[in-house]
Amino acid sequence: PRTRHYDLVITEGQGWPDGVVRDMLFINGKFPGPLIEANRGDRLIVNVTNLLRENSTTMHWHGQYQNGTNWFDGTTGVTQCGIPAGQSFIYNFTVDNQFGTYWYHSHYSTQYLDGIVGPLIIHAPEEAAVRQLYDQDRIVLVQDWYHDFSTVNLGRYLVPDNENSEPVPDNGLINGWNYFNCSLYDPDSGYTCYDNSTYTVFTLDPNTRTRFRFINTGAFAEFELSFDNHTLSVIEADGTLVNPHPVHRLPIHVGQRYSAILTTNQSTATNYWLRAAMVTFCFTIDNAVLDPTTRAVVSYSGGNNTVFPLAEGDNASVDWADAYGVKCHDLDPSELVPSERMVPPAATRFWRVDFSFGIGAYQMDYAKVNGTTWKPLEGTTTLIEAVDGLAMAAGSGGSGSGSGFATSGVVSGFGENQFVVGVSNASVEVVDVLIYSLDEGAHPFHLHGHDFWILLTGSGPFDWANYYQNIMPSNPDVVGNALRRDTLTIAPYAWALIRFVADNPGLWVLHCHIAWHMEAGLLMQFVSRADVLGKMQIPEDVRGLCRPPPS
Ligand code: C2O
Repeated sequence: PRTRHYDLVITEGQGWPDGVVRDMLFINGKFPGPLIEANRGDRLIVNVTNLLRENSTTMHWHGQYQNGTNWFDGTTGVTQCGIPAGQSFIYNFTVDNQFGTYWYHSHYSTQYLDGIVGPLIIHAPEEAAVRQLYDQDRIVLVQDWYHDFSTVNLGRYLVPDNENSEPVPDNGLINGWNYFNCSLYDPDSGYTCYDNSTYTVFTLDPNTRTRFRFINTGAFAEFELSFDNHTLSVIEADGTLVNPHPVHRLPIHVGQRYSAILTTNQSTATNYWLRAAMVTFCFTIDNAVLDPTTRAVVSYSGGNNTVFPLAEGDNASVDWADAYGVKCHDLDPSELVPSERMVPPAATRFWRVDFSFGIGAYQMDYAKVNGTTWKPLEGTTTLIEAVDGLAMAAGSGGSGSGSGFATSGVVSGFGENQFVVGVSNASVEVVDVLIYSLDEGAHPFHLHGHDFWILLTGSGPFDWANYYQNIMPSNPDVVGNALRRDTLTIAPYAWALIRFVADNPGLWVLHCHIAWHMEAGLLMQFVSRADVLGKMQIPEDVRGLCRPPPS
């Protein structure tokens, strides 16, 4: 294993990824941020410098387990206080027991939407077999894009009586580029638009195989990805290798990743569109400037393919005839079979989590998770409260009742807006969470610090008999080789049963990755390994972020 150093410098300025000029944020002067790459087992030391004028920032390593380093998970108010403007903070963790396609982003309010995102790729010898299936790889960050700063949209969203109408994107981007038709904005719109916007181009040699690593780094929209004239073979979902699965269209919701192989076996006489079509069944496009299909170009090198840009209807690059198939949910998880079979251990604990939005006249547009609306703690973190509370309880010889989670259950003591549950008293527990949506939208739920198995999904009543007979005790014929990942879409008014092994001491959030929803409070927390958490030493520089600067 090696130690790899990276520097990420956060700045603000003006940018025009699609031609429309706006205030945005940059990492090392770029958007998207640089690739961070490591081998499994390596140590990553990432120095994040905040050169914003006012705002704090954090960095979250989406999908990284952070086993033993919960304080470097980057979650504002949960695992750390923000890095104040003008300061640096060093993240220092090992990438153990995992490899594949990940990403990093600010986890401070809706800040990542303004540009603080980048890819994180972990390699491992276990990929040797799958490595035979492709010749090269390409990273594809796909995301929706707004022409206003995120806090402006957040202000519009979190107003009374808004009936959970999320801000509708103005465009989408692929690796930070897309075309936008400036004439859609009239001169008095207030937007400056440069007419030279263009597409990302992937130049590939004919008859080669490319592993496209897709990452949805957006705010809100799910996309269906497709390449004209080419079939994709899916081989990875959120760091889990799966048996190759052919698709024309691949749905990807916010926070999710897929790897899929494309073979350049078509005519070299033209270019081909990569289409990322927003799945608009789940929201109304009341935005006249939005073209819901975001595009990039695949160009065969050495081909006679000078036709650019491609006109829609160019008869050499043709959208697949099959209809857009997905309505607000993931590919059926049973279609993605992990190449390494891993039967989940039997569950030792069960939680049901219901969520909904407060709607109706004069109600703020806030989310409720089992009755609570998350707001990040200020000036402290749930991690600090938990560690110090446990340490104090142990020191006073008490039973720990003061800490609120010596007995497993809903944890108190973190303020009224925190739904925090304890998952273990004294050992590693295996936790089932039944997530129940009482909302009409689709919600990509992400669990920090763990992968989970997707054991059941459905709508309507939950089959308790089946649960107690087969699912909870892990009958291998039933739970078998279920898909493992870290972000799944909960369909409208539907539910999903996930299972994870709570072997990772700390405070871990489960939240909807739609940035608007997280800021509306659609987030809850798990306390894991309370038996060892109180003995863990939070580094002084992490605690220091929560102290006001000396005056
Ligand atoms: Cu991409 Cu809470 O994370």
